[in-house]
Amino acid sequence: MPEPTRVTVIGTGYLGATHAACLAELGYDVLGLDTDPAKIADLAAGLLPFSEPGLAELVERHTAAGRPRFTTDPVEAAAFADLHFVCVGTPQRRDSMAADTSHVEAAVAALVPHLRGDALLVGKSTVPVGTAAGLQALADRLAPAGVEVGVARNPEFLREGRAVEDTLRPDRIITGADLVLHLTEWPEFRDVDPATLEPARRVGVDGRNALDADRWAAAGWRVRALGRPAVGPAKVSP
Ligand SMILES: NC(=O)c1ccc[n+]([C@@H]2O[C@H](COP(=O)([O-])OP(=O)(O)OC[C@H]3O[C@@H](n4cnc5c(N)ncnc54)[C@H](O)[C@@H]3O)[C@@H](O)[C@H]2O)c1
Repeated sequence: MPEPTRVTVIGTGYLGATHAACLAELGYDVLGLDTDPAKIADLAAGLLPFSEPGLAELVERHTAAGRPRFTTDPVEAAAFADLHFVCVGTPQRRDSMAADTSHVEAAVAALVPHLRGDALLVGKSTVPVGTAAGLQALADRLAPAGVEVGVARNPEFLREGRAVEDTLRPDRIITGADLVLHLTEWPEFRDVDPATLEPARRVGVDGRNALDADRWAAAGWRVRALGRPAVGPAKVSP
């Protein structure tokens, strides 16, 4: 039988502990990493600091077999796997309404210098638009020579009380899109490079009249904006 895929879960609070236990249930070999030694000791003993339907049973079933295992050592985590889910907290900043992403940055900074081969970091923490690009730059700066690190997002929302069920038996999985619906004037989305988007069909609806239609048409998109004729190729190949 092939060895199970190894993954780490960084930040083993509510989101991370649930994700780690569900990955173990799905057959992955999981190592949980947290900076809080008391939390790690409790989890290693099968003790959960919160209640979530179905989770205690998963923890009981898998912890005895060492899945997930838990550690406070980022060097061990870096050596364990090349797929790392980042699940640390993003509390509200004291000085504004914005999220404090310093824990996410600290987690990446602690892990990346110790990676031994190419790796993928998958962010699950709730973060503002643009955070992944910042983390990619941080990872690129800290990666050992010859090691490539990718940063991806897995931004599904965890419903408290349904988290285990939703993870093990999701009612939908979105793997692609047929249409880009543009409904914001935020520059992060207005200025996105259309050539980097790869939906099944390059069709866009600009609900804000904010996109540079000629740029999108030049990248092979057919774009319709409010009150304006469509621009771009009449037929859009898949
Ligand atoms: N709780 C939910 O229902 C829920 C739902 C969806 C999304 N989220 C998001 O998930 C993220 C985590 O939320 P949570 O409720 O699990 O928070 P939490 O406070 O329960 O857990 C965060 C964990 O991260 C650890 N941590 C902090 N810095 C670290 C570092 N540098 N390295 C390793 N571990 C570190 C903390 O010790 C803690 O155990 C947040 O962004 C939150 O918005 C939570």
